[in-house]
Amino acid sequence: MSTLLRIDLLTLFPGMVEGYLRESIIGRAVKAGTLDIRVHNIRDWADDKHRITDDRPFGGGAGMVMKPEPLFRAIEAVQSPDAQRIYLCPDGERLNTAMARELAAVPHLVLLSGHYEGIDQRVRDRMIDREVSIGDYVLTNGTIAAAVLVDVISRYVPGVLGEEKSLTQDSFHDSVLSFPQYTRPVEYAGQRVPDVLLSGNHQEIERWRRAQQADKTRRRRPDLHASSAPTNSLQP
Ligand code: ADE
Repeated sequence: MSTLLRIDLLTLFPGMVEGYLRESIIGRAVKAGTLDIRVHNIRDWADDKHRITDDRPFGGGAGMVMKPEPLFRAIEAVQSPDAQRIYLCPDGERLNTAMARELAAVPHLVLLSGHYEGIDQRVRDRMIDREVSIGDYVLTNGTIAAAVLVDVISRYVPGVLGEEKSLTQDSFHDSVLSFPQYTRPVEYAGQRVPDVLLSGNHQEIERWRRAQQADKTRRRRPDLHASSAPTNSLQP
């Protein structure tokens, strides 16, 4: 299969994602060539013999800031005219299903993971098209966040998930959370699979699943429940 999405991931810690990219569904898509994912060490674009990539912040304050030169050079080296360049940071736009679907349609993504107290603002101003956060918490660096982004985007690249159907059963499809799933045995540790699932009545099963979804969504995510109109942006 020809490559549908190329991703260049720029990080100070390539080892944090290399194992992940070899495993499971993503590993299979990389092997098949559907995804072309290249991980680069930002230090390779440092120009001094100690390969230094950070410095003290102007104006003072705690921590270190990633220097602009290696980051400009790294992005220039890997970008292409149709690339979308994304910086992973806690103050970015929050990742959701709609964004993942949008990004899955872009042929080339350059993902930049930050570290320390952040990166020089000039990189963000000149070399970044979109800033993305994976949630309202601060990670020690953006590499795991980039892996999360790769994972969720890849699910929407045609052919990555063998079974297209499973996407429609996701939590967040139709702005609701998923229903409970059971497999054999029918009874385990004194707990029985709900009778309706053994009934063979597909209409009843469907009704039960929808009710379970509505109930879980109301209890756990009232924000989704309130906004679950058919036109909602969480709709895949
Ligand atoms: N880097 C540190 N925290 C992050 C977050 N929540 N999302 C994306 N990148 C980050």
